[in-house]
Amino acid sequence: MMKHPPHEHPASALDFDHPPADPMDAFRRWFDAAHEATTVPNPNAMSVATVDPDGRPSVRVVLCRGFDARGIAFYTNRESRKGDALRVHPRACANFHWDQLDRQIRFEGTVTHTSEAESDAYWASRPRENRVNACASQQSRPIATRAALEAAVKELDERFAGQEIPRPAHWGGFRIAPERVEFWQGHKHRLHDRLVYLRQDDGRYVRTRLCP
Ligand SMILES: Cc1cc2nc3c(=O)[nH]c(=O)nc-3n(C[C@H](O)[C@H](O)[C@H](O)COP(=O)(O)O)c2cc1C
Repeated sequence: MMKHPPHEHPASALDFDHPPADPMDAFRRWFDAAHEATTVPNPNAMSVATVDPDGRPSVRVVLCRGFDARGIAFYTNRESRKGDALRVHPRACANFHWDQLDRQIRFEGTVTHTSEAESDAYWASRPRENRVNACASQQSRPIATRAALEAAVKELDERFAGQEIPRPAHWGGFRIAPERVEFWQGHKHRLHDRLVYLRQDDGRYVRTRLCP
């Protein structure tokens, strides 16, 4: 697939020599550009790495469902493998890769739960089928057959016929607070641009350009 060099995206180009003070401003620009680029499938998909209770790393793709100065949020089953990992090691690394724009952003930071109100609001925004399926799935636990999964879905669907599906207590959001954020813009012959933001105790970020 054809890649679009950065000069074709002047509106979202990041000046690596004079970057904005706040990494979330730069993130917003690239995130919006990825959504505007019709060639990028799932522009909000990010790989989130965690550390299992026994110290082993694991990674999976989830969808970024919101961000602000507090960090980036995703929603999941908190009793999943990633949920078990985050209970013991509440830190994560999230990586966006927009290949068509030759861009990558890596977030690292501590993880907290989104508020109950935020989890409720996102739960309520999902189609009924998704809510039933989320309730029926004990994410990351074994299940014998697809038929068993579908039977669990049917049982729940019938139990809540004509009613709202309540959000399970173990379903909700996680937010990664940006302590370290790194931007990568690909260039010809591998002479890429890299920039890292490191959060200081006063909340401001130190910006450092890195060699590719
Ligand atoms: C494009 C894409 C988007 C996904 N989005 C989510 C998501 O937002 N939340 C989620 O729990 N799982 C999502 N998944 C499934 C996860 O990758 C993963 O299989 C699941 O969360 C269980 O992960 P775990 O066993 O490491 O906890 C997505 C998968 C793909 C491929």
